[in-house]
Order: sequence, then C-alpha cells, then structure tokens
Amino acid sequence: MSQHPSDAPAATSRGVLTTANGNPVENNQTSMTAGDLGPVVLQDFHLLDKLAHFDRERIPERVVHAKGAGAHGYFEVTKDISHLTCAKFLSKVGKRTPIFTRFSTVGGELGSADTARDPRGFSVKFYTEEGNWDMVGNNTPIFFIRDPIKFPDFIHTQKRHPQTHLPDATMMWDFWSLVPESLHQVTILMSDRGIPDGYRHMHGFSSHSLKLVKGDGSFHYVKWHFLTEQGIKNILPEDAARLAGTDPNYATRDLFNAIERGDHPAWKVYIQVLEPEQALKYRFNPFDVTKVISKKDFPLQEVGRMVLNRNPENYFAEVEQAAFCPSHMVPGIAPSPDRMLQGRLFSYSDTHRHRLGPNYQQIPINRPISGVNNHQRDGAMTINGNGGSAPNYEPNSFGGPAQNNLAAQSHAKNFTVQGEVARHTYEVTNDDFVQVGHLYNLFTAEQKDRLAKVIASSLSQVPDFIQKRQLKHFYRADEDYGHRVESALKAAGSKI
Ligand code: HEM
Repeated sequence: MSQHPSDAPAATSRGVLTTANGNPVENNQTSMTAGDLGPVVLQDFHLLDKLAHFDRERIPERVVHAKGAGAHGYFEVTKDISHLTCAKFLSKVGKRTPIFTRFSTVGGELGSADTARDPRGFSVKFYTEEGNWDMVGNNTPIFFIRDPIKFPDFIHTQKRHPQTHLPDATMMWDFWSLVPESLHQVTILMSDRGIPDGYRHMHGFSSHSLKLVKGDGSFHYVKWHFLTEQGIKNILPEDAARLAGTDPNYATRDLFNAIERGDHPAWKVYIQVLEPEQALKYRFNPFDVTKVISKKDFPLQEVGRMVLNRNPENYFAEVEQAAFCPSHMVPGIAPSPDRMLQGRLFSYSDTHRHRLGPNYQQIPINRPISGVNNHQRDGAMTINGNGGSAPNYEPNSFGGPAQNNLAAQSHAKNFTVQGEVARHTYEVTNDDFVQVGHLYNLFTAEQKDRLAKVIASSLSQVPDFIQKRQLKHFYRADEDYGHRVESALKAAGSKI
C-alpha cells in the first residue's frame, strides 16, 4: 500500500521565502512605493499576489456540519465477518485500514460553539485497497425526518431566521410539531445526550440500514455502531452555556490535546445484521431512519476497533477539505432503499463539487490510496496529470482501464422492486410514538425532569398554538412525558 494520502510535510524548514511561482522574495515587510510618500506600484508582484491569494482564502463552509474537528487513525478487524461481505478491508482478523475521522456539530457556522445542543456528526473515511468507503453517520442512531425532500426545510429551521438573522425557536417547534416523526430525535436532542462532553465520549452510528454484500451478490442489511471506549459523558446545560462563552472550541481542543498527549481515543465497532426477509417482516420499517432496530431482536456483533492516533498537520488541508459522501462505497457494501439515504447519495458529492470543485477527489485527504483510473478529464484544478496521453474515451482500441465484472459489484446495487411510481407517503401512525415512549422510560426521574425543563425553556418562547400542538405529541408518546413537559412549560411562564 502506498503512503497515506494525507501525509503532509511538517513546516519546519526555514528556507528562503518565495513567491507562489518560486522566485525568492527580498522583502516581506515593506511594500514597493513610488518614493517615500508615494503610492504602491503595480510591479510589486509579491504584494499583489499575497493580497490576491488572501482575498480568496475562504471557501464556502459546509451548509450543515460546518464546525468540526478531525483526526487520523486506523480501523482493525477484530472478528471475522468475511461470511457477510466480500469487502477486502474486512476480509481477515487483524487487518488494518487507515482512516480519517471528522466530528462536527450540525446547525452552527464554522465559528460556532462546540457545546451547542445539537446532534454530532461522526464521519469516517476508510482508505481501503478498493477505494474509499465513507461512513457518514451521527452520534444518534436515528434522525428527525425520513424523507429527503424535507431536509432543506428542516435545516432552514435550525439556521438563522431570514429577517432577524437569529436562531429562532418558533421555526424549530413549528416544524417539529408539524412533522411528528421528529419526536424520537427531538427527545434525544433535548435529553442529556443532546450535549456530549467533547467528541471522544460519544458513540457513532450509520443510522441508516446499509447492505453487506457477498461475492455471489447475496446480502444482509446492517446497521453500524461505533461504541466509545472512553465511556459516554455529557455536559449539563449550565456548563455548556458557560463553555460556549469561555471555551467555544472545547471539543476541538479536547480531541487535539488527547491525541497529542498519546491518549488515543478508540471505538469498538459493531453491526446489527438482518436477513433481507427478516428486515421486510420487522415490526418497524427498517428503512425508516426515525426508528431504531432493537438490540434485543438483533444483537450487536463485533467487527473491529477504530483508533485515532494522529492529529492533522494542517486543519484546512485535511479537515476543511475532507469530503465525506455516503455514496462512496466499496465492493461488498451497498445502500439500502432507505429513502433518506437515497437522497444523501446525491447531495454530498453535489455539494463537494460546489464547495471544493469538480476535482475534489484529487485533494490529498480525499484521494484513494488504491489509485484512480478512469476517463474523467479536465475541469478546474486538475492536478493529477489528467491521464497523460492515455485514451480519454471508451470503448477504444488503444488500452486503458476496463470495467471488471465482479459479481459483488454487478449485483450489489440490484434489487427487485414492484409497485407504482408515485409519492408514497409514510403517514404518521402510533408506531412513531412507541419507541419515543420506550426511550423516555429509560431515563431516571432526574433525567426526565431535566429533559422537560430543557424542552420548556425553548418551547415556552413560541406562540401558544405551536406549544399546544407539540404538547400533544409528548402526551401521545407517554402520559408522564406530556405531564412533565406541561408542568415545566407552566413553570417557565407559558399561558397554555
Ligand atoms: C454533512 C446533506 C442527512 C450526517 C452534510 C452536508 C450536506 C448534507 C449537503 C455537507 C457536506 C459537505 O459540505 O462536505 C444531507 C441531506 C440529508 C442529510 C440532504 C438528508 C436527506 C444526514 C443524516 C446524517 C447526516 C441522516 C447522519 C446519519 C452528516 C454528517 C455530515 C453531513 C456527519 C458532515 C460530514 C463531514 O464531516 O464533513 N449533509 N444530510 N446527514 N451530514 Fe448530512
């Protein structure tokens, strides 16, 4: 295997300062002027180039998950699952694959506080010998919505109000109360797990069902779980608010410092495995990302261990330019019909072409170590030699890369469907409240009180009719949940 793609030289050498075109710079402190009191001159290329490059330093931040921290490490197989998949990086116990991980908050901008109440992104890029697999998950096993068509609207409610430019509780609760399938994730968000203590003390989940595929094309549905070896730790709301002022980069600092002092965070990696028929017969839709698959029904099976042991050498090059995409999959891993996942398969590479350019895969942090061999050519920032003089079309009579017909690749994304092309809505039913009730009843009395108080502190700020609409959902999940939130709302001054 070649060198890790993001091995960057450390900036230790004190060689001669040069312009970007390599000319030595004789003075980096004084601009060239026409006389002592005269204006600066156009011929000072070093000044012009320095300013012009600076003017272009910012690229668009991620439209969601803008604030984050990343680290390098490895994934090691600890249990054999070669009977489930032909993915080569999972082929034998002890096999190690280099990875790059990025953790993030969701709603805030690049400079926002790490201790926000928000889900946390949990992205892992596996640099395998068959190209990259990106596991782009969250620290929650579920999500607010289950149809990608709702995502831009949902995210707008998490961002700033179009007029006030302020975060807006009314937008959030208006949307959530009109989209009750969000209640499960809203409950996690408002619970103690809504503010993890840094990035080391949280789990990670694929959330969606994915497929593991064998060489003959047969498959299982799986959900991925990354369980923290550091233990779960959360931050209380008062401490989070204080830290947002005193140390807004709390989680970024914590991750960097831990790795720097050799305290390498690790996660044990598990899967839940369902036969296709079991998935279709399951009492909940296994492709509805607002629901979990019970671990009692489908226990966790160990797969491996992920360790983070190296900090990025350069934040922008490695963390900001990292491009994770759920459709980056290796042979042996394939998508399920989860419609949210299907929407995501489009959205990420699309935003990468906008955020980083059409050749974003050539940026070292994104480049597969297995090499890239295709007929894509040209485009802004082509830096990989552009295929040289090799043919840039296929079929051709002069050689070049050719498709392989491995069964896993040709069958993995095939499956049989029947039905009418139409907008098949997942209506809200009692099923959408069952798991919320179960989750609520896992909390201690103290946790339930805190949950109700956190909800009320935000919900009490919004118009009464929205409070009433949302309150019904809490009651529907669990009578006590409803009571507690209602009492907390009244204590917070609500007039409902
Ligand atoms: C980031 C879209 C749902 C996890 C992003 C980005 C977009 C996006 C456009 C910015 C990517 C970039 O600039 O590099 C969507 C859409 C969704 C969806 C359209 C639903 C249809 C989800 C879900 C999860 C998730 C359900 C978790 C299970 C993440 C993570 C990142 C991210 C972790 C940050 C990636 C990184 O670290 O760079 N999403 N998302 N998203 N999303 Fe989603």
